[in-house]
Amino acid sequence: MQAQLLNTENIETILSAMTLEEKAQLLVGGGNDGFAGSGAMMGNQKKLVAGAAGITVEIPRLGIPSVVLTDGPAGVHIDPTREGTEETFYATGFPIGTALASTWNTELVEQVGQAIGNETREYGCDIILGPGMNLHRNPLCGRNFEYYSEDPLLSGKIAAAMVRGIQSQGVGACPKHFAVNSQESDRTKVDERLSVQALRELYLRGFEIMVRESQPWSVMSSYNRINGEFTQQSYALLTTILRREWGFDGVVLTDWTGVRNTAMQVSAGNDLMMPGYPRQVEDIIAAVRNGTLPIADVDTCVRRMLQLIVRTPRCKKYPYSNHPDLAAHAAVTRQNAAEGMVLLKNDGDTLPLRPEIRTIALFGVNSYDFFSGGLGSGCVHTPYVVDLLTGLTDAGIAATPALTALYQAYIPFATLKLRADKDPLMWFLDQGQPKLPEMEVSEQMINSEVQHADAAIITLGRQAGEGLDRTIEDDFNLTAEEHRLLSRVSEVFRRERKPVIVVVNSGSVIETASWQAYADAILVAWQPGEEGGNSVADILTGKISPSGKLTMTWPVACSDHPSTRNFPKPMSLYDYKERENWGTPIEFVHYTDHAEGMDVGYRYFNTCKRPVAYPFGFGLSYTTFEYSRPSAKRQGDEVLLSVTIRNTGARSGKEVVQVYMQSGYSPLVAFAKTRDLQPGENETLTMRVPLRYLASLDEANSQWLLPSGEYTFAFAASSRDIRQTAKTKLPAFTEPVHAVLLPNQTNK
Ligand code: BGC
Repeated sequence: MQAQLLNTENIETILSAMTLEEKAQLLVGGGNDGFAGSGAMMGNQKKLVAGAAGITVEIPRLGIPSVVLTDGPAGVHIDPTREGTEETFYATGFPIGTALASTWNTELVEQVGQAIGNETREYGCDIILGPGMNLHRNPLCGRNFEYYSEDPLLSGKIAAAMVRGIQSQGVGACPKHFAVNSQESDRTKVDERLSVQALRELYLRGFEIMVRESQPWSVMSSYNRINGEFTQQSYALLTTILRREWGFDGVVLTDWTGVRNTAMQVSAGNDLMMPGYPRQVEDIIAAVRNGTLPIADVDTCVRRMLQLIVRTPRCKKYPYSNHPDLAAHAAVTRQNAAEGMVLLKNDGDTLPLRPEIRTIALFGVNSYDFFSGGLGSGCVHTPYVVDLLTGLTDAGIAATPALTALYQAYIPFATLKLRADKDPLMWFLDQGQPKLPEMEVSEQMINSEVQHADAAIITLGRQAGEGLDRTIEDDFNLTAEEHRLLSRVSEVFRRERKPVIVVVNSGSVIETASWQAYADAILVAWQPGEEGGNSVADILTGKISPSGKLTMTWPVACSDHPSTRNFPKPMSLYDYKERENWGTPIEFVHYTDHAEGMDVGYRYFNTCKRPVAYPFGFGLSYTTFEYSRPSAKRQGDEVLLSVTIRNTGARSGKEVVQVYMQSGYSPLVAFAKTRDLQPGENETLTMRVPLRYLASLDEANSQWLLPSGEYTFAFAASSRDIRQTAKTKLPAFTEPVHAVLLPNQTNK
C-alpha cells in the first residue's frame, strides 16, 4: 500500500492493510531507552523528546507516526538539558494536585490545564500522563500529593476541569491510575480487597464523573489488582464499566513496566502496553495464531490506537516551538498556588501581617529550601523555585540576617551529607528535592533573633513520593527537633508579644493537634509550584485573601482513620521486584483489606462525630461570609441548588460553598466558589447536580438507586459548618450496573 499519512478518513483502510505483526507493534510501546536516567522514574526515553516517559511505535509504511507520552501531573516532565545543545527545556512547576484541588475552583484548574497542555504541545509531546486522581484513602499514601481528595465528587470535578484544560490545547490527558491505587507499598502487585459499594461509590466515582464530564483521550490502568484481578486485565473494569457504562471512547494504557498476561489485557480493552517490551509483541502474535486471542479484540484496540494517534500534534505535523511562554505560565501558577493555600488558624488576626512587621526571623530548613513539588515521576524540572526568603524579600519584608546566614550555610552541607549517606531516598535525588534534616537552632540564637525580628515564621516541610508510603513517626507526626523548635520559638517570641506563624510546606496531611497552640497562625502552603515563595507572600501580606479549603480531613492522630489499621507498613523502595536484577527482593504485602468499607475520610469522622484537628472542607479567610436564600429544586434529571453569599467582613475575599446531602454518609454533592467579593457585595451561586450523582449502589438489584422522597441539602462552609438548608422532593432514579467486580469474578 502507498504510504498515505494516517488521517480521520482512512483509519479503516489502514487497519485493514495492517499485518498482524504491525497490529501487535502498535499495541506495545516503543520501549525505554535507558531505564533509570535523569528522566521520569519509570519512563525515560531519549528518542523524539528526551526524558519523556515513552513513545508509541512508528509504522512508516502506513504513515503512522510515533507519539510521545510525557509525565505529569504537576507540569511536563522532560529532561531540562540535552546533549549537543545549549538550549534548555525547563517546564513550569505548577502546584501539586492537592494544592490545585484545595482551590475548589474548577475554572482556575482548567486554566492550569491549558498552560500544562500548551507546554506539552510546545515541547513536542502528545499526551501528558495526568491528572493523578486516586482517592486519599489514608494520609500515609506516598502519592497523595499528586491526587486531589478523600472525596470522589471533588476529585472527579477537579480532574474533569484539568482534562478539559489540557485537551483544549490539542493534546491528550491520561488520568491515572485506574483504579484503587491508594497506596505505594507493593503497588505493582497488591490486591485491593474491598466491597462493591466502596469500590463504586468511592474509588470509581471520581473517575466516572471525570470521564462523563471531560472525555479524556486516554486513561492509565493501575498496577494493582482489585478483588483478585489485575486492573490491566479486567474486562469488567476496562470495558463494561469504563466504556459501556460511562461512555469512554479513548485508549487505555498500562502503567509503566506492569507486565501481565498480554492477551488478557488486549481482550480486556487495555489497548497499549507501556513502555513496551518485545516479548509483549510476540505474545500478541502467538495468542492470535494459537486461537486464544480473537483478532477482533486486537482490531478493536488497534482502531482505538489509530483514533488516538490521528488526533495528536505529531500526526498533524505540528511545528512545536520548544519555547512555551514560561513567564506567562509562572503568573498562572503563582495565582493558583495562592488560591489553594489553606489558613487553618489565625488568632487575633495575626494575618495578614500588620504594616509594622518589617523584619521576620525565618526558621525551618524549608523556608530556604522550599518544596515546589513532590518526588518521583510527578516531579518537574523547573527553571527555578522561589523560596520563602525570596518571596518575602520581594514583598518588602526583610529576614533577620544572622539566622538566614546560618541556614544558608547549613543547606549545602546537609545536601552533600544526604547524598553521601546511603539512604534509600538516594534513589530519588534526581527525581525531585529530598527532605533535609532540620537544623538545631540554639536557645541563645532564638533569644538573639527575637531582638531583631517583629515576628517568627517556622516552615515545616514534608516530602513524599512515588514508590514509598509515609510513616506515622517523624513524617505524619513531627520530629522531636521540630517540636523543640516550635516550642522554643513560640515561648521566646510570645514573651515579647511577637507573633509566631507556621507555614506547612507539605504535599499531604501532618499532625497538628499537639503543637497548634504554639502558633498564632497556621498556613498550609502545600507544595505550591515554582512560584511558591511568592504565592505564600501574597497571602501573608494580604495581597490575596486565603480561600483554599481542605480536601481531606486533618485527623487528631493518624490512627483515627479506620484505614490506618489496614494500611501497610512502608517497605523499601525496591518494590519493583519484577524487573530482572532490580533491587533487593522484598516481602510483599499481597493484599490490602479495605475493612473500613465506606468509612473513609469525613464520611467516617462526621458520621461517628469523632473529633478532628481540622475537618474536610475547612479553611479560614481574612473576611467573613453570610449565607442566605438557599434553594433546592428539581429540573428534569438534575437538582438545582442555589444560595446567596454576602461578604460581611472588611476585606475582599472568595468563599467556597459546599453542599452535602443529608442522608447516609452525608456526601458532598456540589460545590461552587464565588468571585472575589468586595465588602458588602454578594453573589448568588447556582449548582446543577445530575440525579445520577445522588444515587447509591443497590447491590441486591444491580443498580444505582435514588429512592423517591424529600431530601435535605446543607449549604456549608465546611463539612462541619452548615449554614443553611433547603429541601426538595425528588423522583426515584435508577440505572443498571453491569459489572460488580466481586472477588474471583471471571474475565469476560
Ligand atoms: C507511575 C506513573 C507514571 C509512569 C511513567 C509509573 O511509575 O506510576 O504515574 O506516569 O511511571 O513514568
